Amino acid sequence: MSAFVYSNGNLGAEGVTLADVARTFGTPCYVYSRAAIERQWTALHNAVGAHDHLICYAVKANSSLAILNILARLGSGFDIVSAGELQRVIKAGGDTRKVVFSGVGKREDELEYALNQGIKSFNIESRAELLRLDKIATRAKKRAPVSLRVNPDVDVATHPYIATGLKENKFGIPHTEAFAIYEQATGMDHIDITGIDCHIGSQIINLESFSDALGRLAEIIDTLEQKGVELQHIDVGGGLGIRYHDEMAPSIEEYAGVILEHLGSRKKQLVLEPGRCITGNAGVLLTRVEYLKQTMHRNFVIVDAAMNDLLRPALYDAWHDILPVDKGEGRKEAATTYEIVGPVCESGDFLGRERMLAISEGDLLAVCSAGAYGFAMSSNYNSRPRVCEVMIDGGKAYEIRKRETMDDLTRGEVLLPDD
Ligand code: LLP
Repeated sequence: MSAFVYSNGNLGAEGVTLADVARTFGTPCYVYSRAAIERQWTALHNAVGAHDHLICYAVKANSSLAILNILARLGSGFDIVSAGELQRVIKAGGDTRKVVFSGVGKREDELEYALNQGIKSFNIESRAELLRLDKIATRAKKRAPVSLRVNPDVDVATHPYIATGLKENKFGIPHTEAFAIYEQATGMDHIDITGIDCHIGSQIINLESFSDALGRLAEIIDTLEQKGVELQHIDVGGGLGIRYHDEMAPSIEEYAGVILEHLGSRKKQLVLEPGRCITGNAGVLLTRVEYLKQTMHRNFVIVDAAMNDLLRPALYDAWHDILPVDKGEGRKEAATTYEIVGPVCESGDFLGRERMLAISEGDLLAVCSAGAYGFAMSSNYNSRPRVCEVMIDGGKAYEIRKRETMDDLTRGEVLLPDD
């Protein structure tokens, strides 16, 4: 369910119209609803509520400090994949003891930094990483808490770029090898085995995939217990899909039901790493129509946002609903089928294809479901400043990130000395 709804023909959230946001902060800009973010997090928290659990929000989905801070205030933990993300969590007031560190390529300095910050768990993705962490922990005279990220080899119906739980993928330790690596870890003086982890992909709308993976996880946990390896937590990863268009995404409650069905009888803490389902539908990308361009073959709406601001359509051919901010009852223009494109010099620079809109130059459009993997994946391609971010909270709009300036675009760059 999107946080943004029409009221008297004007799109907005929490009583603030997007037209007002555009007037105050300009376009393009990302706009979020705090209430929507909190609603999603709390729904998940309540759905697994009876069981000891920790929600570790996947920072990569949207890592803006104000968003991390809102979640930290709710008591959230965080799933990070870099030292940079850990630094963000700390700056946002997050508790490092509630941080799990995922990712296949953790550098030595990143492992060291996280160890010093006292995180909850390193989600180890290979034997080489385990050896590296053991060396670092030995040197630091510390014990590193470790979970093995197991690759359960389950097929997931999602875009191939964001499926991670197949044996062909670079992620996790093959489930057939997990036990041998656990055994090796038990012999290491500076490693504490604390859990098991798995993450099979993203934008998953088929609960069976989760069910298959969790079943496999349960088998591994049983084997480990028979061999005397006691775990404290089970990390089920993230991946719950949301409704972008007409997908039948499961509800948070249905998703939690599957987790509890497989793991609920075990007296172990459940760790969850949701990203998209917390922030995805809590944000839009607000953009203004620069030009309408008709050719013999296509009608284009050229807007001021582009693939550098929202990469998902170009990269995954992803669908985002595109709505007029002013529904404009009684408009004169006829509804026409348009390609919604940006100013970047690539034919892949589109935000939506074949959309029916009645629209004029200067109108505002909202690209929906852009709260996750939107700003976080934006770039300066074509030397375009990254856009500002605005949070609607309690009837007011706050700028939570300033629009980059022209000076920002060349910050840190130097010329070669004169000949
Ligand atoms: N945990 C791990 C280890 C992950 O790699 C991810 C996402 C998550 C949790 C959170 O998954 P979520 O609940 O958000 O599905 N850029 C892509 C999505 C990439 C997801 C990467 N990993 C997109 O825009 O669809």
